Amino acid sequence: MVSDSVLESGNLSERNTLGLTAYADRVVTITQATQLEQALTDARSFGPITVLGGGSNVVMHPVQPGTVLLMDIKGRALRADDGDRVVLRVGAGENWHELVLWCHHHGLHGLANLALIPGSVGAAPIQNIGAYGVEVAQCIRAVHVIHRETLATTVLPPESCQFRYRDSCFKHEEGAQWVITAVDLQLDRNAPVCLEYPALKERLQSADPTHDAVLAGVMSLRQEKLPDPVVTPNVGSFFKNPVLTQEEGDRLRKRVSDVPLFPAREGRVKVSAAWLIDRLGWRGVEKQGVKVSEAHALVLVGCGAQTAGPWMSLAADIVASVEGAFGLTLEMEPRVLGLPEVVAS
Ligand code: EPU
Repeated sequence: MVSDSVLESGNLSERNTLGLTAYADRVVTITQATQLEQALTDARSFGPITVLGGGSNVVMHPVQPGTVLLMDIKGRALRADDGDRVVLRVGAGENWHELVLWCHHHGLHGLANLALIPGSVGAAPIQNIGAYGVEVAQCIRAVHVIHRETLATTVLPPESCQFRYRDSCFKHEEGAQWVITAVDLQLDRNAPVCLEYPALKERLQSADPTHDAVLAGVMSLRQEKLPDPVVTPNVGSFFKNPVLTQEEGDRLRKRVSDVPLFPAREGRVKVSAAWLIDRLGWRGVEKQGVKVSEAHALVLVGCGAQTAGPWMSLAADIVASVEGAFGLTLEMEPRVLGLPEVVAS
């Protein structure tokens, strides 16, 4: 059995950035990868297992059946260094933004565009976090995992992680059994700055911006548009931008001439979900203590809602409205965890 010292109270309201009321039957804090084999074995007799990082990209229903594993594995270790490029192994429980700052201050570049993204390092590969023209997949060299059922530990190369826009194998059946314990990131002392994102380029307005300037630019852009989850409950973007084939994009453009389309992988186009939501008049709309942010139509902010219900309900209304007007189905970006209420057995 896991010792009592690693069992906490089941209240998870402070472990999700929406501050939602949620209770788990059992909560186990994992501070070292070596604890996981035992914790996973013990958890089997208590029902489902939910792995939780920073809780910054989840909508939690009140009932979290079974065991919640809180991933608090820390550590940053240099695994390789050829003078230019380094490989850093980082524990899944490290805070993402603190890591970005630490790397920057040590002259290790590649992550500045991903500054201020809330959450943990272990959660970053799951949704392949991305912002201002960079996705974390570009820096990932390996993901260290343990299998929930077989307890096998493995090091997955990037090709096995199937990284796509806000997506990876970890969100699908083939990868859902892996629990991420550490991530190997490749950083570069001589990396060029990445200024592909138009809004960032415009903000910097210098012919030769430094990494310092990029970091400051990204942080100021995010702080203007995206509320701080410590102050205002939110999970960043609540929906993904729909990705269409070029033909589908052309058809949409014929019907809606001013819809913003951006190039995506493999000749596809990304539609701005914020624009679609904005066009339909949702910005600033509040229902049951959840509001569409005034500053960014893709962000929902909490203003009193204590449970997941009002978040799911406003999200469903927005999805239906966008579907009705544009024929596009928005997908939620955060994961939905748990059950709305106890199911009688
Ligand atoms: N726009 C509107 N109304 C708004 C806001 C934006 O019409 O209220 C339109 C504008 O046309 C703007 C376009 O949407 O040009 C794109 O907006 P933005 O640059 O803010 O990017 P986004 O596609 O809405 C994505 C990510 C963000 C990331 C930014 C910057 C997704 C789902 N979201 O937002 O990621 O920070 O780009 O790279 O891909 C997150 O994942 O939580 C997140 C915040």
